[in-house]
Parts: sequence; C-alpha cells; structure tokens
Amino acid sequence: MQYEFTNGRILHLVQGDITQVPVDAISNAANAALRGGGGVDGAIHRAGGEAIMAELDVIRAEQGGCPTGSAVATTAGRLPATYVFHAVGPIYSGAKRDAEMLASCYRRCLELADERQVKRISFPSISTGVYGYPLDEAAPIAVGTVADWLANRETSVEEAIFVLFDRRTLEAYERALKARVRN
Ligand code: APR
Repeated sequence: MQYEFTNGRILHLVQGDITQVPVDAISNAANAALRGGGGVDGAIHRAGGEAIMAELDVIRAEQGGCPTGSAVATTAGRLPATYVFHAVGPIYSGAKRDAEMLASCYRRCLELADERQVKRISFPSISTGVYGYPLDEAAPIAVGTVADWLANRETSVEEAIFVLFDRRTLEAYERALKARVRN
C-alpha cells in the first residue's frame, strides 16, 4: 500500500526483509547498549557485516550507548544503503511514556535523515517484537509520526518505506494508514 501526500512525498507499506530493500538510510530496532541482538537488529548486522558494530563500539565508548527514544547513525557496510540509523524503542510497560518514546525514536531517525539529506528511508516495526509493544497500539504511532513529518515538515525525505516482516504486521500498519488518511 502506498500513499502520496499533496506535497508529492510518499509513504509506502511493504512486506519483506528490510536488509533487501535499497534506500539511502535503513532504520534499525536496536537496544540502548547498542550491542546487537536478534530480530531485525541481528538481520541488519549479519547482512551489513562487521563495519557497523565497529562504529557502534566507538559510539558506545564515547557516549555509553543510546537512550530510549533516540537513535544514532552509522554507515551501512554491505547493506544496500548509505546509513543505518539505530533507533531505540521502548520496552513496552503500559505507561503513557511508551507512546512518547516510540514516536520520539521515529522522529530522531527523521532528523538524522534531514541532517544527511536522505531522500529514501526505511523503517521496521520498532518495539513490536522482543520489546512487546502491542501491534495495534504501535502501528498508529509509527504511521502517524512518519506521516506528520512527511506532510508538514521541511524535509529532505521524499519517500519513507515501512518494511514489515510478516503479514499480520503489514495489515496492522495498513489499518493505521487507512485510518490516518480518512482523517
Ligand atoms: N526485516 C524487517 N523486519 C524484521 C526483520 C527483517 N529482516 N526481522 C525481524 N523483523 C521484525 C519483527 O518481526 C518485528 O515485527 O521487526 C519487528 C521488531 O522486532 P524486534 O527485532 O524484536 O525489535 P524490538 O521489538 O524493537 O526489540 C528490540 O531486540 O534484537 C533485539 O537488539 C534488539 O534488544 C533489541 C530488541
């Protein structure tokens, strides 16, 4: 599913493996220690190679990691991209702050994109795997945050692509985008 805003920018929802979709910047669902993990994080490090973790080692040494709700940028190694933005979503707790943290990590990726004049950026469904964020709560936040940015901001981003691993996740994001477009 695809939606074109009146300013010509495009929001895309596809099912697939984010490491296979060529873009300028791939967003990752990382952890605050930036130590790599399973899920999409594992897939990105496997496909991108050791250069990515080597850069994260430097960031960890300098900054001690990345706070929840934020993101850090590295190069993309062998991935079909120039950058990886390692976003740290919240571990779901049911608190109101979860939604703020989730929106914030998407916004931080979009800021990193603008700083680098990124035109095409991809996102996974941050926090809805190991971090346990209910899909039907996370999808409207993810779609709404990225849609607001594309519709209302001065931004270098011309196309944002959510690359969703399974059908259930794609369908939740499609429902969220349809609801957003109706309003
Ligand atoms: N491409 C796209 N999406 C993927 C891929 C892939 N190759 N592999 C997994 N996913 C999907 C999952 O199916 C899920 O919908 O990414 C979504 C996010 O799940 P997780 O990767 O578990 O991320 P998250 O819930 O944010 O948990 C982050 O998991 O791997 C660790 O280091 C990571 O500790 C951090 C935690």
